[in-house]
Amino acid sequence: MFHDIPFEVLERMRELERRDEIDRTDGTPRLDRLRQIPEETGRFIALWAASAPEGAVIEIGTSAGYSALWLSLACRAMERTLTTFEVLAGKAAMARQTFLQAGVEEVITLVEGDFLDHVHGIGSIGFCFLDAEKEAYAACYDSVVPRLVPGGLLIADNAINHRETLQPMIDAALNDERVDALVVPIGKGELVCRRRA
Ligand SMILES: C[S@@+](CC[C@H](N)C(=O)[O-])C[C@H]1O[C@@H](n2cnc3c(N)ncnc32)[C@H](O)[C@@H]1O
Repeated sequence: MFHDIPFEVLERMRELERRDEIDRTDGTPRLDRLRQIPEETGRFIALWAASAPEGAVIEIGTSAGYSALWLSLACRAMERTLTTFEVLAGKAAMARQTFLQAGVEEVITLVEGDFLDHVHGIGSIGFCFLDAEKEAYAACYDSVVPRLVPGGLLIADNAINHRETLQPMIDAALNDERVDALVVPIGKGELVCRRRA
C-alpha cells in the first residue's frame, strides 16, 4: 500500500501539501483553506481502512481530496471503493480535479452535498473517516454509529486540537456501549471507535 504509491497520486499529494501549507500563513479565509490532515494521519487512516470489515467505506469532509487519496490506497489494496462527501461546490470541484489528476476516479465516488442529507441512502458501514465542521460531528456520529457493522470503524479527526468543542461528543463516544473508543495522539488527535458485536 505505502510501498507502491502511484506517481500521479504522490505528485498530487505533494501539490496539495504545498497549497495547504501556504493557505495556513497567507491569510486565506478559513472556508477557502484546504484544512487537510497531516501525512501521518493519512497513513494512520489508510492502515485502519485497509483492516476494516465489509460495508461501505466513506469519508465526511473531502476538501480538495487529500485524505481521500490516502484512503484510496487502502481501497485499491482491498479492491473496494470510497464514497466521500463534500458540501462546498468549490471544494468539490478541486476534489474532482484531484481524483482525475491522480487517476483514482474508479476508486473514489465524490458526492457533492451535506452528508446528513445523504446518509439515508447508505447501507451498512465498514469504515468512516469524519473530518467535517466540528459543529456537525455529533449529528454525523449519531447517523454513522448505528450503521456500523460489527467491527466497523469510525475515526474522527481533530479530537485534540478542537477538544473543547468536541468534548461532549468525545465523552459520549467513550461512554457509548455500542463501541470501544480511544483518543489517539497522532496528528490533530484521532477519536477511534470500533463497533462491538
Ligand atoms: C477539514 S476539511 C476536510 C479535509 C480533508 N478531509 C483532508 O484532509 O484532505 C472539512 C471539509 O468538510 C466539509 N464539510 C463540512 N461539513 C460537511 C457536511 N455536513 N457534509 C459534507 N462536507 C462537509 C467542508 O466544506 C470542508 O471542505
